Amino acid sequence: MSRLLALLFCAAPALAGEVAAVDAIALERLVRQDCGSCHGLSLKGGLGPDLRPDALQHYDHETLETVILDGVPGTAMPPWRPLLSEDEAQWIATYLLTGGAE
Ligand code: HEC
Repeated sequence: MSRLLALLFCAAPALAGEVAAVDAIALERLVRQDCGSCHGLSLKGGLGPDLRPDALQHYDHETLETVILDGVPGTAMPPWRPLLSEDEAQWIATYLLTGGAE
């Protein structure tokens, strides 16, 4: 029994790590480099529009997530669904809306 408990204690942190499978450092890098290649390195706008919080106030969190995942059809804004999970898109939406990239 105690051996089983010890096993559970060892496994729990690893499982928790998998559930929260969002690598904030990698995502921050992606936003700055990949999104930044079109939206400007400080996201003030370039080929794509300004992504700073003031410019995104007309978006609610969910819509912003959808724009990130599906892109803007007919424009240069690509869908990121092939590269990002919904959790990751959610993280980026929060990051942009709260000015994490400023
Ligand atoms: C290849 C260039 C390119 C890349 C890379 C790119 N975007 Fe865009 N993005 C655009 C363009 C162009 C638009 C404007 C589309 C339009 O005309 O409505 C846009 C629009 C947007 C909008 C809507 C802005 C608004 O005010 O309506 C959001 C949000 C956005 N992009 C987020 C991102 C994020 C987050 C990333 C990185 C994961 C990213 N984009 C990467 C080109 C790009």
